Parts: sequence; C-alpha cells; structure tokens
Amino acid sequence: MSLSEARKDRLIGRYSNQHGSTSKKGQQGGFRGPMRAMRFGKPKDMGKTIRRLLRYIGKDKQLIYVVLVFTLFTSLTGLAGSYILRPVINNLVNENLTNAQKVQNLLIGIITMASIYLVGVISSYLQQRIMVGISQNTLIKIRQDLFAKMQRLPLKYHDTHTHGDLMSRFTNDLDAVGDMLNNTMTQIFSGVVTLIGTLVLMFITNWILALITIFTVPFLAYVGNLIGKMSRKYYLEQQRALGALNGYIEESMGGQKVIKVFNHEDVAIEEFDFLSDNLRHIQRKAQFFGGIMGPVMGNLSQISYAISATIGGILCVTMNFDIGGLTVFTNYARHFSRPINELSMQMNIIYAALAGAERVFEVMDETPETEGTANAIEISSPYEPKFNTRVIKGEVVLKDITFGYVPDKTVLKKINVTAKPGQKIAFVGSTGAGKTTITNLINRFYEIEQGKITIDGIDIKDIKKDALRKNIAMVLQDTHLFSGTVKENIRYGRLDATDEEVIEAAKIACAHSFIERLPNGYDTVLEGDGANLSQGERQLLNIARAAISKAPILILDEATSSVDTRTEKLIEKGMDQLMKNRTTFVIAHRLSTVRNADMIIVLEQGQIIEQGTHEELLALGGRYYELYTGLVELD
Ligand SMILES: Nc1ncnc2c1ncn2[C@@H]1O[C@H](COP(=O)(O)OP(=O)(O)O)[C@@H](O)[C@H]1O
Ligand SMILES: [Mg+2]
Repeated sequence: MSLSEARKDRLIGRYSNQHGSTSKKGQQGGFRGPMRAMRFGKPKDMGKTIRRLLRYIGKDKQLIYVVLVFTLFTSLTGLAGSYILRPVINNLVNENLTNAQKVQNLLIGIITMASIYLVGVISSYLQQRIMVGISQNTLIKIRQDLFAKMQRLPLKYHDTHTHGDLMSRFTNDLDAVGDMLNNTMTQIFSGVVTLIGTLVLMFITNWILALITIFTVPFLAYVGNLIGKMSRKYYLEQQRALGALNGYIEESMGGQKVIKVFNHEDVAIEEFDFLSDNLRHIQRKAQFFGGIMGPVMGNLSQISYAISATIGGILCVTMNFDIGGLTVFTNYARHFSRPINELSMQMNIIYAALAGAERVFEVMDETPETEGTANAIEISSPYEPKFNTRVIKGEVVLKDITFGYVPDKTVLKKINVTAKPGQKIAFVGSTGAGKTTITNLINRFYEIEQGKITIDGIDIKDIKKDALRKNIAMVLQDTHLFSGTVKENIRYGRLDATDEEVIEAAKIACAHSFIERLPNGYDTVLEGDGANLSQGERQLLNIARAAISKAPILILDEATSSVDTRTEKLIEKGMDQLMKNRTTFVIAHRLSTVRNADMIIVLEQGQIIEQGTHEELLALGGRYYELYTGLVELD
C-alpha cells in the first residue's frame, strides 16, 4: 500500500497548520533570530507596539540612554583603535627615524591602543550588563501580566483558542521580545555608528579609495539580497515541513494506544516516512542556500578588498599614499559590508519581536471575565458566615434561561428551575442535552443573555464572581488534578482546611481507603493530572475536594460515572450527610442514584420535557419511565 497524492497533501497541510499552535518550543527547529520573523509575519502597528513596550520598560527608560552612551563608546573606541594602526605602521616604515625612536613610538602606539581598547571593553561590559538587566526587568513584568491575564480570561476564550497557541505566546513570542531587548537594540545602534564611522575614516584616509569602495556596495547588497530571497523561501517551506513532521510525531505519541488498538502502526510508519522524506528534500535546499550566504558574501568582499588593495598600492607608488593608511583602509574595506548585512538581519529580529509583542498584547487586551455589575455584593455561606456579607441559604432559581455558546445555536431553551434551600435537584437526559451547560451558567462560567439566575433572590450578576464561586462547590465532569500531593489536591477545595478535615472529606468521598494504600498515603505526589491513579480514583479525589468546601450549594456533574456501583452506593451515603443542608444539583448517568431527589428534571435537546419526583415521573409513564424501566437506554 502506498500513500495517495491527496493523502500526502492532506498530511502536510493538516499537521503543518498545527505547527504554529503547538506548545513545544523545539518545534521551531532552531529558527532563531531573523528566520523567526517569517514565522510571525510583520507587525501590524509598530508605533503603537513600541510605545507599549516602552511603557513596560518604564523607569528603566533613562538607563537605556546610559546604555546607548556606552554603546557609542564601544563603537568609537573600536574605530579609533583600528585607526591608531596608521601612525604605528607609518612610524615603522619611516626612514628618517632611528631604531630607538621607532621602538619608543611603537611602545607609545601600543599603549595608546591598549588604553583605547580597554575603555572599549569596559564600556561594552557595562552596556551588556545594564541592558540585560533592563530586558529581564521588562520581560518579567510582561510575563507576569500575561499570566495574570490568562487567569482572568473567560472560558469562552479557551473554547476558541488552542492551548498551544496561548502557550506559544509565553514561549516564542516573549523570547522574541527578549532577543530584541537583549541584543538587537544596542547592535543596531552600534552598527549604525560603526558604519558611519568607517565611512568617515575611509574618506579621511583616502577619498579616492573610499569612493571606489562605496561603488562596490550596491553590487554586494544586490547579490546578498538575491541569496537571501532564495534562502528565505526555502526556510519557510522547511518550517512548514518541520511543523508537519513534529505535529505528526506529537499526535502519534498521544495516540499510541489508539494506533495499537486499530493496528495502525504500519500506516503510521509509512506516513511518517513520507513526511520525513519531504522534510529532507526541502531542508537540503534550505540549508544549502542558508549555508552559502556567508562564504559568498565573504568572497565578494574579498574582491572589493583586493580592488582597494591594488588601487591603494598604485596610489602609494604614484601619489605618496602612506603604507599605514593603506593598511587601515584595506581593513575597513573588508569589514565595510558587514554592518550593512547585519543591520538588515537585525531589522528582521525587531520585526519578529514586535510581532510577538503584538500577539502578547492581543491577549492582554481581551475582555476578562466580568466581576459582576457595578454594585455587586459579597455573599457568604451559613457554614462560614462572614462579617458584612449577605449570608445566603442557598435558594437557586433559573428563570427563562435561553443560551447558546455560539450565536445561532441555542443549547438551552426556556429553562425554569426552582431549588429551595437544601433540596436535591437532579438533571437527567442524553449526552449533549445541555445538563453540564446549566451548571456552567449557575457559577457564571458563561454569561447568560436571556433569562436570569438568582441565589436567594439576588441576580448572580449582582454577586461578586469570587464570592459566587466560593459558595458553589463543584465536581466537574472532566476535572484536573494538579502536580502535588494528594492532601494538597483535596485541600484545593478550601485552602484553610485542616489535615483532619482533609481526611474527613476523603472519607465522605470514599477515597480514604485507596489513599491509605498509596505508597505515601496522603503525602503521595500525583503527577501529570493524576496519571498514576485510575479514572475512578481521580473522581473520588474530586468529590473529596468538593466535600471539603463549606459552600451551601453543591453541583455534582456525573461525579461517579467511572466508579463501580458498590463504591457509588457508599459515596452516596457519605454525600447524603453532606447534602443534607445544601442545595444540590446532581447530574447522573445511573438513574438509581437520583431516585431520592426532591425533583428530577428530564432534559432533551436543551428543553425540559418532564419534571417531578421519582414516583410522579414513573406514574407519568413518559420519557423518565422509559429510561428507568430500560425501555430506552441513555446513550
Ligand atoms: N464550550 C462549548 N462550546 C460550544 N458548544 C458547546 C460547548 N460545550 C458544550 N457545547 C454544546 O452544547 C451542547 C450541550 O452540551 P452539554 O451541556 O455538555 O451536554 P450534557 O448534557 O452531555 O452535559 C452540546 O451540543 C455541545 O456540543
Ligand atoms: Mg455533561
């Protein structure tokens, strides 16, 4: 079997699109500096981004002037140091001087040169040191702001952006900004100074030679540009191919189990071979053009060196041009084209940095989760009443809720639910009916536009977001365990809980016995989202996390779906005690677990089709009856 052309195209296309959005930094395959600019594209509004960056640099701005002064020193000393060579050499070939005089002058020359270079070294050291400080101060501020912002983004943002995309703003984009701040700014400045300085010195040394050398510059720039274009083209392709390959590897690692289940190893190998061959092909060209750039430019500038050396030699003989002058001039001529090439490369780094900064600022400009309306109030739980807050009993009312995650697709239609304090309300219905969505709205994961939800008569929009969530304990359908010990993970539910309370909560959640069996009990370290636990055990920890909370409202979204029925029964017993005085919303797959609810709400396609107690619904003989008696199964 071999891959069809269409499949090949799809492979490259599909996986290379993931490239920009994958989290692994290594994916860029060492595209640093100028090549990175192409990945990001040009910045949209440079002026605005620069101003914003400057605001981050803040009070360090004055220091930048200091850095520039040192940079100026560094460049000027470099130029001056090389110019001293002229009198030094002229002194040596001067026939009017005695050997002793020559040695004396030579020593003076060497000492002068050494002192000039010493000043250069010191100012270069200071320049580097101060600049790195400025750049790190700036980066940390941006990074912290970005993270803080991320914590405040609404879930809607995460629905529409991949994690890899967000991740790359922390890594690639900030790195690009760092590159610029660390080096580029000073390098551009010193490049310009060196270029102008060299030009001036060339004219001072010999204006005829200077003119000739300058005329070779456009030619050098033209050739450099030509090779640059080719290499950029292939580098872009190489990036795409590399992205495709890495995307494929990443997915294959994540999907190893599924690949094995369906015996897809051979197909995977074949597809991978194709992608890596594709990369080899393109990389060969990209590396070739990238590699010849330096030598070709080097050789071309040797030509201009040779020309100025020849003409300079002639001038020495015919027009009394001094040997020292010729030496320093040829030196300048050889290095003359370098700052030009460097400057254009540095510009690319600046583009990359500004584009990266724009992407970072873009996240910072996203609208954060709303805290609540202007006069939002604090509420607190009767189990942990707080001074100056409204202590709530836990009555939850959903009134005429109509909601969709995206426009034009309603997920919930005219939902009305009333939960009296301490009641247990159950939602049942097929997958996708909208059960989780209802709970998402109660704690304001998403804002509602039509209808309203009240707690003790207060619109939840008028409650401070933190206070609201603090008073709703939730076991999410798919939850997350953090790297840390079991104890820490349970305590996540209430940070001031004592060890005894942690154990108490674990007992309620039936997690105590399995935790005891872990190598270090409650101090066992969980890694990678609890990868060392079974799915059911993870759920038990999540229940414990909710059980430790003192919130008057409890939401359990399929909290026991991966737990065996016997354990489930035990949890129920524990939870009953916990739920006694709390308003509880339960979403359950197994109907046996919701029988004792005060109200069972049957949802289908976002609408309530039946509601009542277990007995009432059975008597009704409708959907619930069918589900319960097994006439219809929940899928
Ligand atoms: N974050 C989301 N963005 C867009 N649509 C979503 C999102 N979450 C759920 N949906 C859609 O909303 C509907 C209800 O989902 P959900 O409330 O999770 O169902 P369930 O009853 O199984 O808990 C589904 O059709 C689902 O595709
Ligand atoms: Mg759900």
